[in-house]
Order: sequence, then structure tokens, then C-alpha cells
Amino acid sequence: HKIYTKVTDQTGFFEGLDPVELARNYGTPLYIYNERILRSRCRSLKNLVTYPRFVVDYSAKANSNPALLQIIRSEGLEADAMSPGEIYMEKLAGFTSDEIFYICNNVSEEEMRYAIDEGVTVSVDSLSQLEQFGRLCPGGRVAVRFNPGVGAGHHSKVVTAGKKTKFGVDPSCVPQVKQLLDQYHLTLTGINQHIGSLFMTDQAFLDSLPSLFSIARQFPGLSFIDLGGGFGIPYKKGQGEQPLDLSSLGLRLDQALYDFAKEYGSQVTFRIEPGRYISAECSVLLGQVHAVKYNHSHKYVGCDIGFNVLARPVLYDSYHEVEIYRESNVPSTRQEEVTIVGNICESGDILAAGRTLPEIFRHDILGIQDAGAYGYTMSSNYNNRLRPAEILIRESGQVQLIRERDTLEDLSRHVLLLDL
Ligand code: LLP
Repeated sequence: HKIYTKVTDQTGFFEGLDPVELARNYGTPLYIYNERILRSRCRSLKNLVTYPRFVVDYSAKANSNPALLQIIRSEGLEADAMSPGEIYMEKLAGFTSDEIFYICNNVSEEEMRYAIDEGVTVSVDSLSQLEQFGRLCPGGRVAVRFNPGVGAGHHSKVVTAGKKTKFGVDPSCVPQVKQLLDQYHLTLTGINQHIGSLFMTDQAFLDSLPSLFSIARQFPGLSFIDLGGGFGIPYKKGQGEQPLDLSSLGLRLDQALYDFAKEYGSQVTFRIEPGRYISAECSVLLGQVHAVKYNHSHKYVGCDIGFNVLARPVLYDSYHEVEIYRESNVPSTRQEEVTIVGNICESGDILAAGRTLPEIFRHDILGIQDAGAYGYTMSSNYNNRLRPAEILIRESGQVQLIRERDTLEDLSRHVLLLDL
């Protein structure tokens, strides 16, 4: 049979496999990952600079499927975590305590205690959390997240530094940080920042460094300085959007790292914590069209990818390109403007609004591009729908199931009925 696509499989994403057959074999919605692409993204960032003490911590909030984490670890990356759940998944995938950096935000004593007991490095992002750490672990080693005053991101909801966010310690609080370190006999092992998610030029990232470095100067002997994540990917490739120029960023960053290490002490390790850059482009999300209709002369394509499966378009008006795969050899003869919607009972359940695409028919398979970051991890059981399955196309060409689809029994697993 023939497959019609808007953009043919240019990246070779399916490695010669047929997406329609994958959809038939595993059902939809279905997150499909490509091991080759995942590994290549890990390598690009590992080789970002020549500075020798440089660690890439994969930010597992983007995608924490343990099979993917195993691959990422095998490429020599370490990991950041922001909850006990992420620490748990990372350990399941083989990361050791010293390979996990726990960067938490407003957590309970129990949660912080879990991380301390697991032996991972903890970063706190307020004076009160530093004090909490000091009480739980006097004499311990801790990192502090600072807010460099420069933010960036694709949407105001994901800018995580600058004057209007909840994150990080204000650099003017360095004296109080020192006082708490003294009071609880803590060693400050590192400082970290994260300016926000998804920058496509290197400017904001590089601009944030002088402020971070000037904080570091006030704490001699740090073992690491973590520059954060946020490395963007082009979601609008079909419209000519270009990727982040990693080689230019790498060159300028390398220079900044060497310069600062020369002044500060060459033992210092620099870290980055990218999530999206590593996992976004290694996934296509498949869904199936179940209804096509006109409402007041606008065409709606109704599929099984509701915002419980992919929340990004609804949360941030995010754009994901859509490809069409079809089993029959019925060609789409015309382009038309359509709105692609899911199966959730809210009118905001829009996956792609006002797109001009080749004619879409019932039963077509849709391939939502670049779905690997903040896709499955932000999925839910809203409307008591089942979260999707995940499969991996191995480098060998084999297909492996890496997460089963939820079952109805999963929905009732933790509920307790009344004795009426
Ligand atoms: N480090 C910290 C402390 C973070 O908060 C984040 C993301 C990262 C690293 C990784 O950022 P990345 O390299 O993936 O941009 N759900 C949103 C993105 C939220 C990002 C939150 N923090 C989205 O779908 O666009």
C-alpha cells in the first residue's frame, strides 16, 4: 500500500517502517521514539564545548521513560531530577546517586529527606529551603539555584528567571546564603540557574553567564557551576525554521568557560541541563482520525489525540507539524484549511488550528512531529481516558514496546469504594 504524507519521511524517522502498520499493531494514540535520533542529540550536546570538565545533565521532566533514560545514560549523560519520582525513574534506568542532580522547588521536608537519603546532590532555590536543608542535613553539601535576572523562553509560562518568576535566589541575598551555610556548617558544592525553556539564539543564554559567574566569584572553591537548560528545537521546520546554531553557541560558550576557569580555578566543572533538545525530535505521536465534519463551513478533523495525550498546544498554543499517513491509495487532490481537534469534552481541545493540509479522510493516521519532550510526561487520565503506549525504533530496526497503554483496571487501581 501507499503512504501519503505532507512532508515525506525526510528525517528517515521511521527507518523504513510503515507508520500505518505501527498504528495498526500497537493502536493509537502512540508515542514512537527513534533511538538513532535520540543518541545523535545526546552527542551534539556532549560535544558542545572542548572544555574538559563539562557534564550534560539530561532534564528528565521532558521525558522520563526509563528505556530512553537508559539510552541517554549509555551516551554518558547524567541527569537532573525535580521530584522523588524522577529520582526513582532515573535509578530504575541505572543512574547512580552521583549522576543525579536534584533541583527542587518548594518541597516538603519528607521530599527533601528522600533525596538526601538517596544520596543525590540537592539544589535549593530559596533561603527557607536552604534552612530546611541545613536542619535536615547539618554539615552536608548543597547547591543553590540563583536567579541571574535574565530570562528566556517560548512562552511566559516557561520563562524561569528574571524579575517576574518564582525561581532562584536573588543574587542580592548572597550574604544571607553565606550566613545559613555557616550556621548549618554546610559546604556549597555548586550553584545553578535555568533561564527558561526554548531559546533559538544563543544570546539570552550567553548574556546570563556574567551574572552567574559574578555570583560564583563570591563562593571560591565551588566544584560545579550549572548553566541550566532551555536549548530550543525548531517546531516549524516545514516553514523554514532553522535549528539552534550549536556550533556558534558552543564556540562562544567554550571561550567563556575557559576564560572564567582560568580566573576562578581550573578544577571547576560546568554543567548544562537540557531536556527538550535531547528528547523532542526523537518522537512522532501517532493518532487516528475518527470524524471529519463541517461546522459553520469550517472543517474539523476529529482524532484521538486529546489534550490528555499532548497538552502543549492547549497550554502554550504550541505548534507541532502534522503529517498524514494513509493505507489506501486514495490521493489527497486538494489542500484545505482544517482545525484538528481531540476527543476531550472541552472546546479548547485543539491540537492544530487553521492548518492548510492535504485533504484528510476518516481513518487517516496523523503523525504529530517533535512530540518527545513534554509529551507523555504531561499526559493525564482526564475524561478517564487511557494514557498512550510508547514504542521505540531501535538502531537495529527492531521495534520495542517501552510502555504499555493504560488499561481500564489502571484507572481503578487506587480507588476505594464505599460500603453502601
Ligand atoms: N532545568 C530546570 C530547572 C528546568 O526547570 C527545566 C525546564 C529544564 C532544566 C529543562 O528545560 P529544557 O531544556 O527542556 O527547555 N512544558 C513546557 C516546558 C517546561 C520547562 C520547565 N523547566 C513545554 O512543553 O514547552
